[in-house]
Amino acid sequence: MSDHPDPRIATTSPASAGRNALAAKVLPLAFIVACMPVHASVPSISTGKAISGMCAACHGSDGRAVVTRYPNLAGQNYQYLLHQLEAFKAGKRKSPIMHSNTLDLSRQKMKDLAAYFANLGPRSCTTGKDKPRG
Ligand code: HEC
Repeated sequence: MSDHPDPRIATTSPASAGRNALAAKVLPLAFIVACMPVHASVPSISTGKAISGMCAACHGSDGRAVVTRYPNLAGQNYQYLLHQLEAFKAGKRKSPIMHSNTLDLSRQKMKDLAAYFANLGPRSCTTGKDKPRG
């Protein structure tokens, strides 16, 4: 027998009350989880710096290339750097060296590295190692 005289009005059964209580607990959690990737995708200069050691042998610890055969990265545009890293990884930009250097990089790490190198000051033209020869 229903508690309510008219069974059509008896909408809040103990079972649905339980479901509502569960939803009240789960929904905020789901909201937090859904928002996490948004925060994780923000590029981090400090993380980029921390993982840039693997690039330093060629591109220099400050993004200024060790030998002039390698490109400087310091002060380059963030979007450009990120795009090149993705292209190297995907093999769209052909470079065996850079393909192997990007193979294990997540998109987040590429963003961090791009942010780190973009944030460094570019080499000055007058003090550069690679002045044009006359
Ligand atoms: C063994 C040397 C070496 C290492 C280590 C290395 N690179 Fe490179 N990188 C190169 C060379 C060589 C090129 C030029 C590729 C080409 O011929 O297009 C290059 C090109 C690039 C470019 C494109 C620059 C431009 O002006 O278009 C980016 C961005 C880059 N590297 C980022 C990185 C990052 C980030 C790391 C560390 C995860 C790294 N590289 C590690 C040798 C290296």
